[in-house]
Amino acid sequence: MDNKEKFLSILERFPKHIQEAAQLGTEIKLKPFDKIVMCGMGGSGLPGELVKSVVKDVPVILVKDYTLPGFVNEHKLVFAVSYSGNTEETIDLYHQARTRKAQIVVVASGGELAELARKDGVQVVTVPPGLQPRMAFAYQTIPLLDILKVGCDWQRCAHFLESEMEQTKRESHKLAQNLGKRIPLIYSSARFFPAAYKWKIDFNENAKMHAFCNYFPEFNHNEINGYDNLNGDYVVFIIKDTDDHPRIKKRMEVVTKIIEGKGVCVIPVPSKGPDMITRLIWTIWLGDWISYHVAAELGVDPLDVPVIEALKKSLD
Ligand code: F6R
Repeated sequence: MDNKEKFLSILERFPKHIQEAAQLGTEIKLKPFDKIVMCGMGGSGLPGELVKSVVKDVPVILVKDYTLPGFVNEHKLVFAVSYSGNTEETIDLYHQARTRKAQIVVVASGGELAELARKDGVQVVTVPPGLQPRMAFAYQTIPLLDILKVGCDWQRCAHFLESEMEQTKRESHKLAQNLGKRIPLIYSSARFFPAAYKWKIDFNENAKMHAFCNYFPEFNHNEINGYDNLNGDYVVFIIKDTDDHPRIKKRMEVVTKIIEGKGVCVIPVPSKGPDMITRLIWTIWLGDWISYHVAAELGVDPLDVPVIEALKKSLD
């Protein structure tokens, strides 16, 4: 199997990932906490995006850097997520969280982080190895949503995706054709930002191209001005959800007219699914599929990320 075929089979197995992921981390026990701190880079930062979007009763802070915020103490819950378990930023944050006596849960397939957690008696969600981190999205995210008691009916979610497989393949192929060789600008509500961000990551890492994302209403207060002075060949995707705030829906309509008025193609992407999390996950999967088709069109390997690997090595 070449990498394109491997990638395709991972995409087709995604509904199974969801079912398998729902079995992970069931033994994790939490003590009370007053804030959640999500640590993880790149593909392993995605669980944090989902948790931030879905958890409503506790503040969620994302850390994609080397330094924990000053408020982290024994009352905070810190998730240290690294698929390889070897990402230096996340390992640094883990050590800081230990020093501050925070409650820590590690998510890793192995590596140094899993080893440290084992030695330190820290709870670990062990995810299956052998995937690219961004493709292990379900394994890394679903256990966390369950641990935090904000998950959904995963069987129903998986069945929905399975039932949408053929249509999603067709739809994504068409969206990829609409994009062509242009640069995607992806917008969504803040609630659906995890999907917009995953699309960006997918275009970057799978299709090896630039892509940018932002969210309503924030970008209406700055980025929208960029359309007055276009300096690239863009296609705008607007991810829409039935439960978007009414003013966001209004803004999406108005902004579409403004952008189209500047001669830029705007493609609405309505989310699909029986509940909010499933709609978010389906939209994320759609983005995976689009990037697969774009990678095929560009003739690039959708799986390996040699530039990221080389960068990590040259920092040793
Ligand atoms: C590669 C990918 C990257 C990694 C990131 C952090 O597929 O998605 O963005 O996720 O370099 O590595 P891990 O996930 O191993 O901590």
